[in-house]
Formats: sequence, C-alpha cells, structure tokens
Amino acid sequence: MARILRLPRPDDFHLHLRQGESLTAYARREALSFGRALVMPNTVPPIASAASIGAYRASILSAAAPGALEPLMSFKLLPGMGAKTVFECAAAGAVAGKYYPAGATTNSADGLASPGQAAEALAAMEEAGLVLCVHGEDPAAPVLEREEAFLPTMDRILGRYPKLKVVLEHVSTRAALDFVRANARDGRLAATVTAHHLLCTLEDLMGGPLRPALHCKPPLRSAADRDALREAVLSGEPFLFFGTDSAPHPAAAKKSAKVPAGVYSSPVALPALAGLFDGAGRLDALSGFVAARGAAFYGLPPPEGSVELVEEEWEVPEEIDGALAFLGGTRLRWRLK
Ligand code: NCD
Ligand code: ZN
Repeated sequence: MARILRLPRPDDFHLHLRQGESLTAYARREALSFGRALVMPNTVPPIASAASIGAYRASILSAAAPGALEPLMSFKLLPGMGAKTVFECAAAGAVAGKYYPAGATTNSADGLASPGQAAEALAAMEEAGLVLCVHGEDPAAPVLEREEAFLPTMDRILGRYPKLKVVLEHVSTRAALDFVRANARDGRLAATVTAHHLLCTLEDLMGGPLRPALHCKPPLRSAADRDALREAVLSGEPFLFFGTDSAPHPAAAKKSAKVPAGVYSSPVALPALAGLFDGAGRLDALSGFVAARGAAFYGLPPPEGSVELVEEEWEVPEEIDGALAFLGGTRLRWRLK
C-alpha cells in the first residue's frame, strides 16, 4: 500500500503570480497545494497603492476557483513613498511591504537604493504592524556575495525600526542564516526558505548543460550552504518557514539569450519537499515548516483544511503552464493526490 501523507493545508509566504492571462493558470496551480499565498508586488506596473492592491486581489480571486486560494497582499516600497500610502495599503488589507534593492532581481529597477529612501514608509509600517519582507541582496556586490553584502543593511533596518517585524526572503547562505539566528530571538525577524535552495546547488544550474529553469535570485549555492539550510529546516528551527518564491517566466523567455531570474516551483514544491523530509526521516517536521510557523509569525490563524500526498513515482514535465518547471524531467517519489 502506498503511503499517504496528510498535511494541514500549507501556506506559501512568497509567491509571484504575474498579471494578465497567465495569472489564471498560475493561481489555479498554486491552489492545488496551498491555501494562502503571500503575493509579491513586483508586477509591471508595481502593486504600490491601495487601489492596485484591491484590483490585484480581485483578479487573483476571480482566477482561482472560489475559496481555493486566499491571497495575502503586499505592496512594493518605492523611493519617497509616504506614510499615507502605507496606511491606505494596510487599510486595503496588505499584510506586508516588500523591500527590493534597486536592480537586484526581476522587475526591481524601481526599488530602493537605500532604506533611507523609504524612511517614512518604514516608520509607518512599524506603526501599522505590517511585516517588512526584504529581498536581501546588494546588487553592487559580486553576484555570489550579494546576500552577505546586504546583511549590514538588514542590521541597520532592525536597529532603526525596533518594533518592525522583518522577513529575510529566500535565505540562501550560511552567513545569512547565521545572521537570522543571531537576531531572531525576540521573534521579530524570520526568514523564508525556498524548495530550490534546499534541493539544488550551482552544480545543478551550471555544472553540466546550463539549466535556465534553475536561474534565480538569489542564485543557487554551494553544497555547504544548501546543507546548512537543510539542517536548519529539517531540525525545525523556529524562525524559518516556507515560501516557494515560485516565479514563472514564459518558456520562450527562459530559452532566450537573456534568461530572466525566477524558478517556477509552485507545481512541484510540496512533493519535492516531502521527498527531502522523508529521505531525512523527518516527515514529522514538514507541517511546522509549511503550515504553522509562517502563519504564527504573520499573526494569522492556523491553516484550515488539509492536503494529501501519495508515495507514487512520477516524472515532472519539462514545461507546466507554459513555463519551464522546477525539476522538469526528474522523477519524484511523492505526488499530490
Ligand atoms: C523573482 C521574479 O521573477 O519575479 N525572481 C527570482 O529570481 N526570484 C523576483 C524575486 O523574488 O527575486
Ligand atoms: Zn520572489
């Protein structure tokens, strides 16, 4: 008899759904695995006002089946953003604001050169009890050093806004993990971890033929960094929770001469994680990672409902929903039921 794994319906605390036609497929796909998703605001134009939050939420709700996916909304911090805009975004239901260093990743040219450019907005977020989500890379540093190079800026933000809750998104290096460990004690700093940073390394991206499906920011890392993340997540460290950073790009763009950064992991994230946790004998630690700690950090009620996986081998298609799929062409041990 194939084993069945039943989990409380997971939350995804870092998701890109894009806009337009493709949004429907991405939102429906996400709803097969997740009940709630924190939707990132780096659309074009960005989500950076109460009106755009309302419109974007409505388009997500009408894309997924009724009740299937609860979008948790965020807005993008823009240079010079004022307190009024932040309070309006909070009133429109945003739970988080996102800090993108200008030029650090896909659709971030309009981001911040320094925290000072959004000083008023950050103070307003602290006052309103919104979570600050940070893309922690300094684009001025060499590509593999960008995450570590951003840590002094994280430190300044934490020091300047002592009541602000902060999430270091898609933590990928041991250095950043240690920074979060050292600052997480009072419960105001946490980090999301992706499936791709837990499962893959630079070797997978470029050790053989280049795999554009795996190109992302922050980049995949060494086995030592991956293992540090694995150990922390598998042992249930309390300040780490799951965010897919699922970031689909059309397959044609991923096969072009200028490959955009972003891994489409939403369709396979849960089966892939089940394989990792099961292989380590830690299936018991999976639900805390995907369906408890994130909600607790955000002050949300625990997930409702459940999702089931079955131990049944399958091969991940190379393309899903018109995007190159994470782990496309590989065989996984667990599948969504
Ligand atoms: C994301 C995207 O494509 O929007 N890309 C990525 O490589 N992760 C943006 C982001 O979260 O950095
Ligand atoms: Zn992202």
